[in-house]
Amino acid sequence: MIPREKIEEVRERVSIVEVVSGYVPLTKRGQNHVGLCPFHSEKTPSFTVNEDKKLFHCFGCQASGNVVTFLMRHEGMEFPEAIRTLARRYNITIVEEKRAGKGAWELVTGVNSAAADFFTGELKAPGGVKARSYLEKRGFSLTGEIAESFRLGYAPDRWDALTGYLKAKGFDLAFAEKAGLVLKKQRGGYYDRFRGRIVFPITDARGNVVAFGGRTIVGAEPKYLNSPESPVFKKADTLFGMYQAKQNITKQGSALVVEGYFDLMAMHRDGFTNAVATMGTALTEGHIARLRGYAGCVYTLFDSDEAGKKAALRGLRLFLNEDVPSRVVLLPQGTDPDEFLGKSGPDAMKRLLKESTALMDFYLEELSNRFDLQTARGKAEYLDEVIEYLAMIKNVAERGHYSSHVATALGIEVKALYDVLNTESKQTDRASFLRTAIPAGTSRLAESTILRVILKHPELLTNEVLDCLGRFQDTFLKRVAKAVGATSGGGRFEPSDVVDSAEDEEVKSWIAGELLKQDDGFIESPEKMLEDCIEKVLNAGKPRETTRRLIKRLEESGLGEVAREIKTKLGSSSSSGSGRE
Ligand code: GTP
Ligand code: MN
Repeated sequence: MIPREKIEEVRERVSIVEVVSGYVPLTKRGQNHVGLCPFHSEKTPSFTVNEDKKLFHCFGCQASGNVVTFLMRHEGMEFPEAIRTLARRYNITIVEEKRAGKGAWELVTGVNSAAADFFTGELKAPGGVKARSYLEKRGFSLTGEIAESFRLGYAPDRWDALTGYLKAKGFDLAFAEKAGLVLKKQRGGYYDRFRGRIVFPITDARGNVVAFGGRTIVGAEPKYLNSPESPVFKKADTLFGMYQAKQNITKQGSALVVEGYFDLMAMHRDGFTNAVATMGTALTEGHIARLRGYAGCVYTLFDSDEAGKKAALRGLRLFLNEDVPSRVVLLPQGTDPDEFLGKSGPDAMKRLLKESTALMDFYLEELSNRFDLQTARGKAEYLDEVIEYLAMIKNVAERGHYSSHVATALGIEVKALYDVLNTESKQTDRASFLRTAIPAGTSRLAESTILRVILKHPELLTNEVLDCLGRFQDTFLKRVAKAVGATSGGGRFEPSDVVDSAEDEEVKSWIAGELLKQDDGFIESPEKMLEDCIEKVLNAGKPRETTRRLIKRLEESGLGEVAREIKTKLGSSSSSGSGRE
């Protein structure tokens, strides 16, 4: 492992301009350096590097990050390799922490594998009778294939069962602790983490045991317990069952994604062997990236209640970004796949899969329910929402298909829609600014202005502002606000840190774009602007007057062009026509 402070030192000391210049000819423009983006093809430079903020951002394709991310992306390096390469170049000596990288991985998977053997043994042993009958009751028997291929096991309801076994096998319990299998007692010694639970070994795609999940059979809390996150196990990047499903996913060209361990096993038991599970968390980019090489299409199974539909829609952005086709399967309300298979059987599941809806169609359907397409305002808001997603569709034929769908819904010519779309994808910079600046009846303008002011004047991030960030309405800006809030963490707020630490790529990219933007003028009186916007967010009910004041302030601050754009847009999207001054 590379010590944390060395990673910091690399980021501090390395010149991002110097490193990037080795790959991309850069010219100085204002405080930035610009060049042709290495991540997409372009004829005029929109790739921007800033030494001060130690960031790069492409205003064309939205790629962004720091010098380490740059190397990772450009050279296809893994994080540690990128850090080491930079360290060598800048004569930063890295003394690796004991039990470096690969060694730690082998030790953890090694002790996990021994534990998996112990747990499977306990399930077969006389003491495992209760666990066996629990599994039987849920439709899985020890003689079935599932128990074997998933290496199902049982952790006895004792404090020292695994601890004793590992000790006897000569394992260093400090490593079992690192792997999250045992916990340290206050007075010395160790005790078992998993007790009275059916255990599921969680493996990587090659079958190495990276963690465990365990379901209680003695009514303990929590119902499910997982190994803690470790360098070997990141829940957000791991799909339970991937090892078992991999081949079938390739064979069938599609993957089925469920949430729970038992859901997954029931799917496999009933012949849906291309299923994988997220272990209770929302689907992430990491999950999709892992399926991408295998699955031509990803089906996600959800409960048809409101929460389930919302969860399905959250995936849209990710799937479009990763360019992976996706379909939504809705199960009857209050039913998970395990229950559904138990009640209705595999044939009913097959029908549901057949009746599934392409995620984009599902989204458009939900959207048309949300807005009144009989009114001008409804149409404007619908367009405002959908345009971003249309622009994200990478396949031309598909984009055309959905564009005509949307044009028809709005009663406009598809050519008119293409005009908007072209602005959207070509001048992403301007478009993304407008997208966040146009309030369309919400306090979005105020929210994005607050973020802009804070990024320019981080010293203004007070508790009052933080509180206001927590009340944002706009779904995207909320994510930005959350990342800002998380990074500020009490101490001094450094905007570039958000780009370094945020996990949300779009948030990262938005902030990097804002930070490296050159000509968005200088804000005359940021405190006043901030104050106005906070007031507006807090009184989201009566937007009009504050919006007018904001426009005035934008004009006063030399942002006249932006103010005009907003006025035009307000005028044309407001059905009452009163937005125009
Ligand atoms: P069963 O009652 O065994 O059928 O579980 P379920 O899978 O139907 O339960 P639920 O819908 O509550 O949870 C779905 C998935 O979320 C589980 O399979 C777990 O992966 C995860 N999960 C549920 N409860 C917990 C918990 O208390 N802690 C953790 N870490 N994960 C949980
Ligand atoms: Mn269940």
